[in-house]
Order: sequence, then structure tokens, then C-alpha cells
Amino acid sequence: SIGGDSAFYVYPNIYNDAERDTFLFDTFPEDFMWSSATSAYQIEGGWNEDGKGVSIWDEFSHDPTLIYGGQSGDVACDSYHKWRDDIEILKEMKLKAYRFSISWSRLLPDGTVNSINEAGIRYYNELIDGLLEANIVPVVTLYHWDLPLNLHKKYGGWLNVAIVQDFNNFAKLCFMRFGDRVKNWITLNEPWVVAQLGYGSFVKAPGILGDGMKTYIAAHNLIKAHAAAWHTYDNEFRAKQGGIVGISLNCDWAEPYKRTNPVDVEASNRLLQFFIGWFAHPIFVDGDYPEIMKTRIDNKSRLQGYTESRLPKFTEEEKQFISGTSDFLGLNHYTTTYTAPAPEDNSVPPGWGKDNGVQKWFNKKWPGSGSGWLKGVPWGIRRLLEWLKEEYNDPDIYITENGFSAREPENLDDTGRVQYYMSYINEVLKAIKLDGVKVKGYTAWSLMDNFEWAAGYSERFGLYHVDFNNPSKPRRPKLSAKLYTTIVENNGFQE
Ligand code: NOJ
Repeated sequence: SIGGDSAFYVYPNIYNDAERDTFLFDTFPEDFMWSSATSAYQIEGGWNEDGKGVSIWDEFSHDPTLIYGGQSGDVACDSYHKWRDDIEILKEMKLKAYRFSISWSRLLPDGTVNSINEAGIRYYNELIDGLLEANIVPVVTLYHWDLPLNLHKKYGGWLNVAIVQDFNNFAKLCFMRFGDRVKNWITLNEPWVVAQLGYGSFVKAPGILGDGMKTYIAAHNLIKAHAAAWHTYDNEFRAKQGGIVGISLNCDWAEPYKRTNPVDVEASNRLLQFFIGWFAHPIFVDGDYPEIMKTRIDNKSRLQGYTESRLPKFTEEEKQFISGTSDFLGLNHYTTTYTAPAPEDNSVPPGWGKDNGVQKWFNKKWPGSGSGWLKGVPWGIRRLLEWLKEEYNDPDIYITENGFSAREPENLDDTGRVQYYMSYINEVLKAIKLDGVKVKGYTAWSLMDNFEWAAGYSERFGLYHVDFNNPSKPRRPKLSAKLYTTIVENNGFQE
């Protein structure tokens, strides 16, 4: 248990003296939703138990060459059996909410509503009831990357528009069976990653190296599927159940290399449009991709000899259907890069990497983590939040992920993560108090160490340590869990 000394750290114990001077001692809005997150494939294990179907991640991770050390999520944190332990540690940290995901193939083994696995329904019912009993609000992600393998084999998964109907059916089943108790829904987690890394690289399942089009096609179907599920809730469930449905989009902040150089500022904006705007512009603005994406990809496609643009088009009807389909913006944010224009390159790229015309890199002084892509740049989250407020007409924002990794074996004394959380959360507080951004909640990724996709168990994001060598997978609090508890208890920072 946590207990003990809450003054174990000296705060502000942050990156540099300039920041120490600007640390904001204040509290968050009263109903602020403090949360932590996991996802099904990363924690559950039980990959083939009680009638669960196979997902693309089961298949992907069973190829030992694709994952660090040949590891897999077959057992992971064993939350399929140890979910009560997860609720215990949420209670220990005094959290108000828990974000977890539902394994599509645990409910629907072949991905379709032709056969429902009642054992899967029972598992999530017990978890949800257990959370409510502990006074913890369930925040449920419907799709956190574990597509039923059958839908991939049958028609190519997200590459086929048929997925929209199957996803909508799955969403509807979840609203029907869990919506009496679950009031906070996230349709998709990080569609950027699904499209770009799943259908534009070998890094994530299904691991298809795109041809400059597949990434955009997958994204197109992801957006339609999200909109379909939102409408289903809006038409058939909202009046009775009274919940909200949003989407979690990932985005780094893009800092113009020189803020006084207009081309760097343009590059920053361009990167943000290709990054979060790809999904947020259709959903939050007008049902269509950002202008800059359309212009650039259409032009490049012409130069490359395509008869049609590599970026698919929405019909007018589809635009109408897509626009305005989110009750909040879920933001997954971890890091910042510098941006400047890249030399134009008109070769056909795998994925879309060259389409945006931006180069990005890190400042060598920014503190690193256990992941090559993650540097601690706390002020970046504040700038991104301000940009989102301006760009998307002041939406309600939930930070649905933010966190810091370390390489295993990791000491429980995780001072790097303590610094990261303290300074990032303080920047979120500034965004609320000083910039008026409507941030409604904050979610730490992750509740506990878990299966970090292609990095296996080598990169640890947990507030709690998990001993994966021990068959009972004990969870033990790191220092960061204690820091987070103190912040939650104080609803902010006390001098
Ligand atoms: C993004 C994903 O949603 C989550 O699954 C992953 O573990 C974290 N960020 C850290 O990479």
C-alpha cells in the first residue's frame, strides 16, 4: 500500500531553474477527472481463454521476429484473472476514473455479431461493476488496436469499407450491454498509429508496408467507423443512457525551430495538420481533411503520375455525416519535436512520411526516456493545448494519455517519471488557469507496466511495477504512483 511520507520529493523538482520560477501552485477545477489507463491486449493475457477469438495482435506477436525478445501479450499482466488487483491499485491512488479497452475478439470471436461470447461479456461486466463499487468511473475504449483476425483475413480489416458496419455492430453491442453503467466512451485509440504504423510500416499489426495509399485508405475507414458509432450512440442510446462519446487522437507538439522564421512556423502548422488534423479536421470542423493535406497530396499524386489523388475523398453526404461527431477531444500526448521545412521529395512514399514536407528532430538537451521517440518537454503540452483550443473552437479536452517510459529493469525510485509527471501536469494546470483551455481530465499512461507493443516488456510506462517473472504478476507502486496520489489528493499543487 502507498501510505507513509508524502513529502518524499521536493517540488518543484523539475528540469531547470527557469521552470522552477514559473511553477504554478494552484488547484484544478473541482470535478477534474483524474485517471489512469491501460488497454486490453497490453494487460489482459488470457489470449485464448473462455472462447476468445484471435486478434491481429495475437497473430503478430506470435511471430517472434517482430517483438522484442520474442515476447507476446499471451499472459501480460494477467488482468483477465487479476482485475481485482487493478481496482485495488486504482483505489490506492485515489483515482476517480479508469480508462481501459474492450477486446473486440473477446466479445465477438470472429469479429461479427453472428456469435457473441458471453464469457467475454461477463468479464467486462464484473470489471465495470467492481469499478463502480469502488466509486471509480469506467472510461471505455472500444478499439485499442486488437482487430479480430478474421476481419483482417476476410476482407483486409481497415483497408475495406466493410469494417465500418462490423465496427458499428460491435460498438452497438457494447452500448447495449454496458451502457447502462458506462457513460464515457472512446471509439478509437490513436487512429494515426493504426493507419500509419499498421498499414504503412511493419512496426504494428497487421504490419503492412503501405504503398503511399493504404495508410490513407485505412484512415478513411477509421474516420467513417468512428462517425458511425457516434451516430449510433446519438440516435439510439444517448437519450436513455446520457453518456458522451469521443475519440483519442495522438499528437506531439511541433515547435517551429525558429519562432521568428515564417517557414518554420508554416512547417509546424503543416505537421500538426498532417498529424492530428488528419482526423480532427473531419470530425471537429467540416467533415473533410485539412486543406493543406488535400492540396499537397493531390499535387504530389499528379506529379507522380497517378490518375487520382492518393488521398481518398469524402462525398458531400459523408462530410455531413462525419462532421461534429465527437463530444470531446481525447488527447494522447507525450513529446515535442522541432520542425522546419524538408526539401521537397516527390518519390512515392511508403505511408505518408514525405507528403507533409516537414523535417523534425529533438533538441539534444531535452531529457530522454526509455523510448527513442519520447523526450520530456513539458512546455510542449501547454502549447499544443492552446493550439487545439484555437483550431477546434474551444472543445472539451480530456487528456487520455500522457506518461514516461524507462528501460527494464527499472528501479521503484523512478525519479525521471516523477519529474515528468510533475512538470507536465503543472503545464496542464497553466493551460487551464492561464490560457482558459477546457481540459476536463488527465489520464496517466499507464496504471502499471505492460506489453509495450513491438518493444515487449522492455519499455516500462507503469505507475506500478509489474514483476513479469513471477507467475502471480505482483503490482508494486513506484515513487511516481505516490507523487500522482498526492497531486490527486490535493487536486493540484500546494506550496
Ligand atoms: C500510445 C498507446 O495508446 C499505448 O497503447 C502505448 O502503450 C502508449 N502510447 C505508449 O507508447
